[in-house]
Amino acid sequence: MSLTSKNNGAEENRQVPQHIAIIMDGNGRWAQKRGMPRIAGHNSGMKALKEIVRACSDMGVKYLTVYAFSTENWKRSFEEVSGIFKIMVLYIHKELKELTEENVRINVIGDLSRIPSDAQKAMNHALKTTEENTGLTFNIALNYGGRSEIVEAAKKLYNEKTGSGGSLDDITEEEFGKYMSTGGVPDPDIIIRTGGEMRLSNFLLWQCAYSEFIFTDIFWPDFSPEELAKCIDEFYGRHRRYGGV
Ligand code: IPE
Ligand code: IPE
Ligand code: MG
Repeated sequence: MSLTSKNNGAEENRQVPQHIAIIMDGNGRWAQKRGMPRIAGHNSGMKALKEIVRACSDMGVKYLTVYAFSTENWKRSFEEVSGIFKIMVLYIHKELKELTEENVRINVIGDLSRIPSDAQKAMNHALKTTEENTGLTFNIALNYGGRSEIVEAAKKLYNEKTGSGGSLDDITEEEFGKYMSTGGVPDPDIIIRTGGEMRLSNFLLWQCAYSEFIFTDIFWPDFSPEELAKCIDEFYGRHRRYGGV
């Protein structure tokens, strides 16, 4: 897939994107291609993630949101699911010190209550350890689904409004957005999906309204800071109109 700029020479705004979101897809196929078990792909995927987090932090990106496990990924074998969470725990243990030194703040979106308890513990520890950090916010979407997020936001808003005698008629998009798990975070400027599929798979459905989509055939374990730089270049060439002219 071509990642070259399509700006036709127009003057571009080269500000570093504030918020990059990534659907890290293709771990299984990466492994299959090498005759390895799928879990080996998830393991290599974590190594790729480590490099991308550092690259975003070094570039001065404010928010990086990665899709690590969807509400639909429970459909996979027990072996694969438990392997994915084991790799996550390992990642946190190995990388937390460096992430802290890099001033990265870890945040989780999605329903943590249903994931294995050691993964929950590792994540909560990571959240606590990095909560004061002021650099890159590294958002991990874990047991996350965009539709469920919207439904939960609606329920919460409804309960608060009716509980306080407020009116549902006054709800604005802005107010509704604050009830999403990304409340307060600007919407992603770019959503990158690796692995060749061109779909969202239930990721950031509310937040993606005006995101620039970039799809690449590269499998996630092969995605490098150089590939990220190409995606950002492609983004610089896009003309965001937000409905204007
Ligand atoms: C993405 O890679 C990681 C998760 C969904 C956890 P996949 O495991 O979906 O890899 P493919 O799409 O099967 O190659
Ligand atoms: C999306 O990838 C979820 C993550 C990357 C965590 P999937 O591999 O689950 O998506 P589908 O099944 O191809 O739509
Ligand atoms: Mg996949």
